Amino acid sequence: MNAAFPISLQPYNTFGFSVYCRELHLVDSREQLLELFQAGLFQQNPKIISGGSNLLITENIEVPVLVNRIKGIHISGETQEHIYLRLGAGESWHESVLYAVSHNWGGIENLSLIPGSMGASPIQNIGAYGVELKEVFHELEALNIHTGNFETFNAADCKFGYRDSVFKQEKKNQYVIISVTLKLDKNPVIRTQYGDIQSVLEAQNLSEITIADVSRAVIQIRQSKLPDPAEIGNSGSFFKNPVIPASQAAALQLAYPGLKSFPQNENETKIPAAWLIEQAGWKGHRRGDVGVHEKQALVLVHYGGGKGRDVLQLAQDIQDDVRQKFNITLDFEVNIW
Ligand code: EPU
Repeated sequence: MNAAFPISLQPYNTFGFSVYCRELHLVDSREQLLELFQAGLFQQNPKIISGGSNLLITENIEVPVLVNRIKGIHISGETQEHIYLRLGAGESWHESVLYAVSHNWGGIENLSLIPGSMGASPIQNIGAYGVELKEVFHELEALNIHTGNFETFNAADCKFGYRDSVFKQEKKNQYVIISVTLKLDKNPVIRTQYGDIQSVLEAQNLSEITIADVSRAVIQIRQSKLPDPAEIGNSGSFFKNPVIPASQAAALQLAYPGLKSFPQNENETKIPAAWLIEQAGWKGHRRGDVGVHEKQALVLVHYGGGKGRDVLQLAQDIQDDVRQKFNITLDFEVNIW
């Protein structure tokens, strides 16, 4: 810390880096957000944090920082089959999953224990264990930081892709998400097609599987593989799984019969970045205060006392090495500031 940068952002990034800013606004309501708009805050291009769990901060922040903590859970509609649940952007994602599961409203149980907030979930279309947010997404409300108007986006407006949406592309840094409305099933469909879930549930010999069982299984799997940010700084998968030409994937599979791959269409196949990183020899590698997690090679970790730029350097070295060894470029999933 120094006089020019007096405010720590350590509590607001799950990597746990000690970085600082000059001005911090903790926003708890849309009224407060509008007041900041009227006071001209958005003309200073503030940075916006919600859960801080998909974020690598590499230097002190010159512009104001806004932490979105707008809460609230409401049923905004209901049909025979569905519940429309409107959740404030500052609600914890995982607590919201537990809330839905406790009411037996299905759709997001496979996304249990993902760190971060509701407001960030559509930005990168979070996904895990065979489910993506876009499948349960109904709409969101966001403040346009140029006009001060509140706008509603439906799923088509969001242009969801793999860990991607319009808010990471052409509308990046132009909106503050206020709430997200999910369309959940009153008669849940159990989705256990993702290998790990199936094997965990089979081992339990249940006569009937509920979404609470699925949620517990996902929690168990995640806890066994992924580091808890409260104990060791990280931001989940650092890289996206690359989508490569099907011919390149077929050649790789000939050379490495154990490689799992996921055809996307006739011409493209997604392969696990974690496999590439592990093959290149980086799994469990430690460099000073940062490293590659020993149980999941996609996750970069901060052991404490390190700097965001050390993680960035490590990530770039992994990128270069994988490109050299496999002719595949790994893209970052995490936002870098
Ligand atoms: N694998 C390795 N080495 C490893 C880990 C995995 O070779 O260290 C290979 C294995 O072949 C394994 C395959 O990768 O079968 C897939 O591994 P896993 O099921 O752990 O999933 P992932 O592709 O590594 C993705 C998401 C995770 C999500 C899991 C489960 C991305 C970038 N990551 O990881 O999401 O939890 O699937 O659905 O798509 C996140 O985005 O932050 C995140 C954690």
